[in-house]
Amino acid sequence: MMEQLKSESTEKEFLGVVGKSVTRVDAWDKVTGRAQYIDDIPFPGCWYGGTVRSDVPRGKIVGIRQDPSFNWSKVVFVTAKDLPGPNEVAMVRCDMPILAEDIVNYVSEPIALVAAPTKALLKAALKAVKVEIEPLEPVLSIEEALEGKNVIWGDDNVLAKFEVKRGDVDEAFKEADIIIEETYRTGHQEQLYLEPQGMVALPRDDGGVEVVGSLQCPYYIHGAMTHALNLPPDKVVIKQAVTGGGFGGKEDFPSLLAIHAAVLALKVKRPVKIIYDRAEDMVSTTKRHPSKIRHRTGVKKDGTIVAQDIDLILDGGAYTTLSIVVLQRSLLHATGCYNIPNARILARAVATNTPPNGAFRGFGAPQSIFAMERQMDKIARTLGLSPIEVRRKNLLKSGDAFPFGQRVEDDGARLVFERALAISEYERKRTEYSKDQGPKRRGIGVSLFLHGGGFTGSGEQRINGKIKLRLTGDEVELYVSNVDMGQGAATVLAQIAAQGLKIPFEKVRYCPPDTSKAPDSGPTVASRTTMIVGKIVLRGTEKLIGRLKEHVSRYFDVSLEDIAYENGVFLENGTPLADFFDIARRIEGESGSLEVMGNYVHPQGLSWDDEKCQGDAYQGYAWGANVLEVEVDTDTWEVRPLRDTVVVDVGTAINPLLAVGQVEGGSLQGLGYGYLEVIEMEGGRYRNNRLSNYAIPTSVDCPDFFVELMEIPCSKGAFGAKGLGEMPLNGGGPAVAAAIEHATGLFANRLPVTGEVLTALEQKGDERRS
Ligand code: MTE
Repeated sequence: MMEQLKSESTEKEFLGVVGKSVTRVDAWDKVTGRAQYIDDIPFPGCWYGGTVRSDVPRGKIVGIRQDPSFNWSKVVFVTAKDLPGPNEVAMVRCDMPILAEDIVNYVSEPIALVAAPTKALLKAALKAVKVEIEPLEPVLSIEEALEGKNVIWGDDNVLAKFEVKRGDVDEAFKEADIIIEETYRTGHQEQLYLEPQGMVALPRDDGGVEVVGSLQCPYYIHGAMTHALNLPPDKVVIKQAVTGGGFGGKEDFPSLLAIHAAVLALKVKRPVKIIYDRAEDMVSTTKRHPSKIRHRTGVKKDGTIVAQDIDLILDGGAYTTLSIVVLQRSLLHATGCYNIPNARILARAVATNTPPNGAFRGFGAPQSIFAMERQMDKIARTLGLSPIEVRRKNLLKSGDAFPFGQRVEDDGARLVFERALAISEYERKRTEYSKDQGPKRRGIGVSLFLHGGGFTGSGEQRINGKIKLRLTGDEVELYVSNVDMGQGAATVLAQIAAQGLKIPFEKVRYCPPDTSKAPDSGPTVASRTTMIVGKIVLRGTEKLIGRLKEHVSRYFDVSLEDIAYENGVFLENGTPLADFFDIARRIEGESGSLEVMGNYVHPQGLSWDDEKCQGDAYQGYAWGANVLEVEVDTDTWEVRPLRDTVVVDVGTAINPLLAVGQVEGGSLQGLGYGYLEVIEMEGGRYRNNRLSNYAIPTSVDCPDFFVELMEIPCSKGAFGAKGLGEMPLNGGGPAVAAAIEHATGLFANRLPVTGEVLTALEQKGDERRS
């Protein structure tokens, strides 16, 4: 169920295809089963690759033994010694080896690779390898990492550290009526894309290599491959196959997998395919960072916050991967949607002997927003105020500043909040549900959240994205390195290009990313594709129209200044000359296709200081409010989400139906994070590595969604779009904890809020609602 709202002020802009819910371009192939995922594509003569892994969290490799009774001549075996280049996966840092050489740092760390002509032989070969490891004492928690008894990374196990300050926190604490302190914890979360990780590498005659796979960031892999294989850029090609979900899990990890497949393919001199099964995928790939976040908040009796001191720690796992940037985003979202006049936020990511954590939808924000939203509920509970009152008192409004100095440009936080409260009938239901008697109790909880669209700080300038448009006689091909992984980028970017060119949507063809054809428009991360890459596409369309005008001027012998382009037609002083495809066909007949590039241009007036973590962190903020209703069985602690009202400001919704899909999907993933999804770790090992023992919400757990899109356009995004893909996940965790608190009276300070957590709260002395 869904409802939509479109503000009247933006209606005029929706005359073309932007703002229309056109059918997604991949819909037909996907529903008919025609879409080819990596394991569906035939590669004649292909061998199968597999990985020998560590079974201890930390240790010294003393020997790798190949069983002499196995016929090794039939397979190819690779250890770190056989690598053609540096044993490093180049990401933000180069601290992660391609294959562990002397030391292993997590259970499931790759140590050796095998390729075989059949799956059966591969299985037998993997069994015939024994790795001897002398165990070392591992570091398995944030506390152990900070204690520093065992140092596994740098001098102090700290992978990254940032600090942000605003005002004078210590002075402001003196003015507070009360200081409220609480520590919040969140666990791992598994991306659980439907299609596991998979890559095929094909050796080329010129010594280069081509990789086809399930991935989010073709040029990340391209950079990591050229580094690891010592190859020039033109000898490495990365192509995206239809990708069955990524959720961040196919952002950093595919670089390692692609290198593994390529190293084997270059040695076998044939295509090599590595496809993980679910268990291997779950134990060895990156997850959401667990967190420990301590809040100390100085508050006036009426709920006004005067100061806030936050100590935020993420567990990065064994290597850096993207922890530096995840931490930065976590820090920059740590005070949520509130105006905090005096703030001090210390953020650290630490190393532990657990599989490296990496990108996951939300990128550090779900952890810090959970802590902030729960702290707002804690303040309300402590002061005997309503959670709504406390939020209203402190909401960010236009002109207010975040602790890192950036000024807020709109009143989105207030607007989504009030609208969600109104349409969900929050106050009435809160009173009604409070009267529930018996074991089944209903509860209603609210969360308020935001998301900065695009890369943090100067990230977009560093990437300096480019796109290419290729005009043929009857269509425009769009080349970008941004993938469609289910979120709808192929459709939305084609809508933006069609609207920019004022041609029918069907005349634009999004071409799946291929680094030999598409320029680097950056990775498919940070909810940047629609907002930021869309804007680059628009620049390309302006350039293409400019080039066509030059041809029109020549063909019709008219002065360039007299030519206008309106609704797909070139005019001379108001008189129609030719339409877009008349000119396209003529150019094609004359000189073949025409190509133009679109370039990133950094918006004026935005500045960022990386060292001090100060300035304009993001080009625009999307806002969201979530009002969740649940039923809790207080005998069994079973939680049933009933209804979820989500109001989000996404700037202009390029394709409203896809946008609503993102909100529903992201919110559900956030609810799973909030009460269901538990990764059990024991001695550095994931214990539940299957779909049968890792629970995510299914259709049975799905509440009735009421989604409303509020559109407050952002001048920095394409047609006013803001980053949308990740934001809805940020609201699920705190909303479910708040709704469970209302139903039960128990205040959970950790996610997920499982039955065990609620039982522990009772045993600790928290009182149930009477
Ligand atoms: N939606 C689907 N269906 N599948 C996905 O893998 N990834 C999410 C989100 N929505 C994802 C998704 C993540 S991690 C990101 S960063 C954004 O989509 C990227 O979307 P955008 O850059 O196109 O906004």
